[in-house]
Amino acid sequence: MTETTKTATLSFDGQSFELPMHSPTAGPDVIDIRKLYGQAGVFTYDPGYTSTASCDSTITFIDGDKGELLHRGYPIDQLAGKSHYLEVCYLLLYGNLPSAAELEDFEHRVTHHTMLHEQMQNFFRGFRRDAHPMAIMVGVVGAMSAFYPDSTDIHDPWAREVASIRLIAKMPTIAAWAYKYSIGQPFVYPRNDLDYASNFLRMCFAVPAEDYEVNPILSRAMDRIFTLHADHEQNASTSTVRLASSSGANPFACIAAGIACLWGPAHGGANQACLEMLEEIGTVDRIPEFIDRAKDKDDPFRLMGFGHRVYKNFDPRATVMKQSADEVLDLLGIDNNPKLQVAKVLEKQALEDPYFAEKKLFPNVDFYSGIILEAMGFPTSMFTPIFALSRTVGWISQWKEMIADPQNKIGRPRQLYLGDTARDYVDIENR
Ligand code: CMC
Repeated sequence: MTETTKTATLSFDGQSFELPMHSPTAGPDVIDIRKLYGQAGVFTYDPGYTSTASCDSTITFIDGDKGELLHRGYPIDQLAGKSHYLEVCYLLLYGNLPSAAELEDFEHRVTHHTMLHEQMQNFFRGFRRDAHPMAIMVGVVGAMSAFYPDSTDIHDPWAREVASIRLIAKMPTIAAWAYKYSIGQPFVYPRNDLDYASNFLRMCFAVPAEDYEVNPILSRAMDRIFTLHADHEQNASTSTVRLASSSGANPFACIAAGIACLWGPAHGGANQACLEMLEEIGTVDRIPEFIDRAKDKDDPFRLMGFGHRVYKNFDPRATVMKQSADEVLDLLGIDNNPKLQVAKVLEKQALEDPYFAEKKLFPNVDFYSGIILEAMGFPTSMFTPIFALSRTVGWISQWKEMIADPQNKIGRPRQLYLGDTARDYVDIENR
């Protein structure tokens, strides 16, 4: 980490403290407060970490004002247009685009780790049939530490590498099986002659009685959805993975923690919530009513798929996703999809509304993704599992970076305590 000659001065109670500053390769300067408590005896207060850099990282950069997302320096629209998911996985994990031989080797390693331990089927069968696939994924991924104990030693670089490949390779199988289980169909095994996205689609939609012919355009759209979700710097689930891992927990436990966090409607659950909202709105004439509700401070309703903590101009992933939605629906011959119609008019009306303009609220990646996934045949409950499988590589890349960092220490925030001060215990008969 580079310390600059710049410092920041903090003054209170007649005392001043010099705080070192760091200059990133991109983004705002960072004030280093690590020694603040030791020197000045105060904490900083930042619930929601809106002004806190929790780590240094070389993986992903977002410029929220410009609407820019870079993975290892490469813009997301270039990656979504010219690259493909497994190449982006390699880039995120190892730092550079692979040579042809490196890519072939990486794809071979991922492809040959897609099967699950056969005993894991019993684990799936322990869940209720109506369990949400995310509930199954949290449980099954956490249980991988029981099925693959040989790759849980975080201090062994070989074990870390094997755990990384296993997680990227097996996540589509786990997500597809969670879906198959929920609809009462047999599990479909992966096939090594198919690419990553095609294999996932086939595991979701094939049945023993009838194979599934993978449409290359749908497979490309699936791959693009994976690519657009691959990483997003220190978002809530990634920070959860990092915090869980800071205690030395094994990678499967940490990724399970990330999946649990992603499930929430403010994060990865927004794609499901957004499609449900579009369905509830139903027709364009009802849009103003929902816009009014989103603006009403006394109504908890928010426009799902709108707004972002970091993007204050536009979300570059949403632009690609919108194009993809048009392409996929066109390919499938779906004219006048009512949800797409509602989404487009809703986007237009919201962007023209001063409330959304002033608060810099724009459609995010989740606004159009659900429309594509539904057109492909996925139920809404599978949207967040698909986000989870796509984001796995981001979580793992950030986890690997953190483990290899000599500055890595257990995450232990402090608090602004507002409760009672010490008081004596009162026996129950005297309360
Ligand atoms: N609809 C209506 N008002 C909104 C919305 C929305 N979707 N999002 C933010 N606001 C308002 C909010 O009420 C607040 O107003 P005020 O300043 O008057 O109190 C202001 O905008 C700032 O909102 P915030 O909640 O302080 O912002 P945040 O950075 O904490 O939240 C967010 C970011 C994404 C959680 C939020 O915009 C939201 O809840 N959006 C809907 C859920 C969603 O689409 N999530 C997916 C995010 S992208 C995928 C991912 O990373 O998981």
